[in-house]
This record gives sequence, structure tokens and C-alpha cells, in this order.
Amino acid sequence: MAEVQAEEMASLDINSEGANAKDEDFVDPWNVQSSSATGVDYAKLIVRFGCTAIDQVLIDRIKSLTGKDPHWFLTRGIFFSHREMHKILNLYEQKKPFYLYTGRGPSSEAMHVGHLIPFLFTKWLQETFDVPLVIQMTDDEKYLWKDITMEEVRRVALENVKDIISLGFDMEKTFIFCDFDYVGQCPEFHRTIVKIQKHVTFNQVKGIFGFGNSDSIGKIAFPAVQAAPSFSSSFPLIFNGKKDVPCLIPCAIDQDPYFRMTRDVAPRIDFQKPALLHSVFFPALQGANSKMSASEPNSSIFLTDTPKQIKDKINKYAFSGGQATVEEHREKGGDCDVDISYQYLKFFLEDDERLEKIRQQDYTSGELLTGFLKKELITILQTLIGDIQARRKTVTDDMAKAFMTPRKLKFDF
Ligand code: TRP
Repeated sequence: MAEVQAEEMASLDINSEGANAKDEDFVDPWNVQSSSATGVDYAKLIVRFGCTAIDQVLIDRIKSLTGKDPHWFLTRGIFFSHREMHKILNLYEQKKPFYLYTGRGPSSEAMHVGHLIPFLFTKWLQETFDVPLVIQMTDDEKYLWKDITMEEVRRVALENVKDIISLGFDMEKTFIFCDFDYVGQCPEFHRTIVKIQKHVTFNQVKGIFGFGNSDSIGKIAFPAVQAAPSFSSSFPLIFNGKKDVPCLIPCAIDQDPYFRMTRDVAPRIDFQKPALLHSVFFPALQGANSKMSASEPNSSIFLTDTPKQIKDKINKYAFSGGQATVEEHREKGGDCDVDISYQYLKFFLEDDERLEKIRQQDYTSGELLTGFLKKELITILQTLIGDIQARRKTVTDDMAKAFMTPRKLKFDF
């Protein structure tokens, strides 16, 4: 209840006031800017966006309802915010259905480790709750926003689909689609898009996304395309024509503007508001206040990197929270809050005890230097990426096609 009120109070247009002030972070689907070495201030973002912090009560409830240990992304605050997750848990408690929806804008061939975060977590959610999953590839969005041809965006989207499949999604429970194809295959998807478009004004999207008079009309209309998969009417084969199956969306917090709009329009078109789980941003190797970009190969670790590239990049570029000299370091200790190797270990080192030992006893105390953290991280990422690359080799065109064929999944509705 408190959550609904907070949402109503927060303006849909969140960047216009707060973020223009110099000390505020700027966050929208296309730009994330923070001037601090520790990155975006997420507590402030929760207030500004009008969402709710993921607290111990919610984490404990997930544990008691599912009987599974909550993913470390939850316990470590990597997924830190939500909208109406308790509603989803109520459904699960009553054995009522819901589904998962997430997506990717296929702008570059190479996905980096940061792109994995929402997908790895979505996979865990799907395995934990055993529900259908739809994954939207917004080839149209990237065509509209980037300098890229339709042919190129199609090729890149297919490569990305194969990367996503190689994370190990269950074909019988997962539908992956490219917007350009699916609007043609499924009139109900297009109908849902146009229904949303009819009920959102230019003024509203201007406020939410900052569109101006010189933005193409394609951009202005696009938010409805990302909103539509939040409604089960977009997937008549999966949901047997049911239009009211509730949806849960795991995504990075920068995607929230799309879903604020979606939640706002939902009651006006007699649909359910989707629930959300938001993740923090994945920092660039050079530090949380520098940008990670697919066009800057040294800003992150890519799924295509070789073991040697992983090692060299981390050793050379991972921003250190250590002190200037060894003597000073031994005396004052390292700063985990800005040390990128530690930050990455928080994402990828599963063992809680080991992580805590590294933080407290080893690094913060000054006993060990950044090089030790780097070594640990290199091994973990070489293994993770090696495993994904091995599976990626087994993903054929036919498999991708099978995932992308509109069909009923292994759930009856
Ligand atoms: N716009 C997102 C991107 O550029 C892709 C996307 C589409 C998405 N639908 C989504 C992301 C749902 C999260 C959840 O990457």
C-alpha cells in the first residue's frame, strides 16, 4: 500500500528536477552519469523514482516461500529495488500464475559481463519459481537510436540471441523474440502496442523520456513496444488468449522509465501493472564513474575475450582501491568501495564467506594488495566465460530458431 502511494507521489518525470542539480546522478535508458567514484547513489534514486528498497523482509519471504537460498544478487544488494514484488509472492503463495519478461537492445555483437547480470538473475528466478519467460530483442529500438542498418541489427540480434541461449535457458519454458519479426507473426502483439499508443500522450513521453520536437516519431512511439510484453495479451499462444496473467520484470534500474509509463497506462486499458526487480549498474573496469561501452574494448570483459585478454585487461585497467605505495597500503588498507576488482567479485564470487574474508581480513586491513584481488577475479571470470563460450559453440541456428518460434510453452493456461 505504502508503495502505491509513493509511486503516485513521485512524478513520472524524474530527471527534470533532481538530476539537473550538479551533485545529482543522471539516469535514463540512454545515459547514466555519476560523478562519484562509488557510482550512482541508489538510495536517492529509489526516492526519486518512487520505487521500494528490497529489504530483509522481502528476501526472507522469498526464501521461506520457495525453500531456496536467495541468490547472492539479492543478499548483496545487486538487485536492490522493486515495485510490487510482494504481490508476485502473494500469487506464488496462492499457486496462481505469473510470468517473467526481460530484454536486450542488440546494438553490438559483443555482450560484456555486465549484460549478463539481468539474464543470470532471470534464469535463477525462472528456475526458482518455474514460470514462463519471454525475452524481447529490441532490434527496432536500436535501429531507431543508433547509426545501424536493418540488416546489421538483424545479424547482431541473432548473435545476441545465441549468447543469451548459451546461459542455459530452458527452451520449453522460454520464448525469445525480435520485435521486427514478432509484430508480423502475431497481430495481438501489434494490437497491444497500438492500444498503449492510443492511451499515452506525447506530453507524457516527453516528460518521462525527455523527447523533443526534433526526435523522430519512431522514437516517440517506441516506448509502447517495450511496454507491450508486460501484458499477457501480447502472447496469445503462451497464455491461451488470457489477457490478465501478471508479469514480473527483472531489469537494470535505467529501464524503469519504460515501466513507469507501462504501470501508469495499465489500468486505463484494463491490464495488470507489471511488477519489477531493479539491479544496480555494472561498473566499468576504469571505475564506477567512467562509462562502460561496447565500443571501448578495454572498458569491460566481453563474452568473446580469451583467457589472456581477460587477464591482461584486469591487470592493466581494473581501477584499484589500493594506496599509492606498498607501505601506505599496509598501513591504511585498501578501499573496497572503489576497488573495481572487489566490486566485480561481489557480482561473480558466489561464496559469501570467502568474499567477506577478502574484504575484511585481507584487503581492508592492508594485508593484501590489489594484485591479490585481481588474481582471484581473473580465475573466476576465465572460468565463467570459458563455460559460456563452450556452450555457445553448441548453439546452432536451428536452436535459435526454435527458441524464437511463437508457440505454446510447457505451461497450461
Ligand atoms: N531497452 C532495453 C535495452 O536497450 C532492452 C529491453 C527491452 C529490456 N525490453 C526489456 C530490458 C525488458 C529489460 C527488460 O537493453
